[in-house]
Amino acid sequence: MDVLTHLFVGLHIIGIAALLGGFLTQMKAMGQGTARFVPGMLHGALTMLVTGVVLVGLNEAQDHHINTIKIGVKLAVLIVILGLVYVKRDEEKVDKSMFGLVGLLTMVNIFIAVLWT
Ligand code: HEM
Repeated sequence: MDVLTHLFVGLHIIGIAALLGGFLTQMKAMGQGTARFVPGMLHGALTMLVTGVVLVGLNEAQDHHINTIKIGVKLAVLIVILGLVYVKRDEEKVDKSMFGLVGLLTMVNIFIAVLWT
C-alpha cells in the first residue's frame, strides 16, 4: 500500500510540474498581456485533483492521520485555479492579473503543502 501512496505522490508532483511549468512558460507573455492558459495547465490541475483525492483515500484506508483543514484549504484553492483555467481555456489572451493569480495560487498551495505540518 505504501508503494501505491508513493506512486500517487509522484503523480501528484507531475501534476504540479504541468500546472506550474505551464505558468512559467507564459511569464514573458504575461508581462506583455498576451499569456494564455496552455492545455498542460488544465491537465495538471485536473491531475492534482484526482491524485489528491486518491491520496486522501489511500491514507484513510490505512488509518493514517490526515490534516483535514490543510487538505480542505488546498482543495478550495485548487477549485479556484481549476475554475479560472477551465473557463478561460479557449481564450487566446488572458488578463495579466487573472493569469498571475493562477500562478500565485499554485505557489500558495505548494507552500501550504510543505510548510503546514
Ligand atoms: C495546486 C494544488 C496542490 C498542490 C500544489 C499540492 C502539493 C502537494 C505536495 C508538494 C505534496 C507533498 C508534500 C506533502 O506530503 O505535504 C502533497 C501531498 C498531498 N496532497 Fe497535495 N497539492 C495540491 C492539491 C491537493 C488536493 C486538491 C488534495 C486533496 C483533495 C491533495 C491531497 C494531498 C495529500 C493527501 C497529500 C499527502 C500524501 C502523503 O504523504 O500521503 N492535494 N501535495
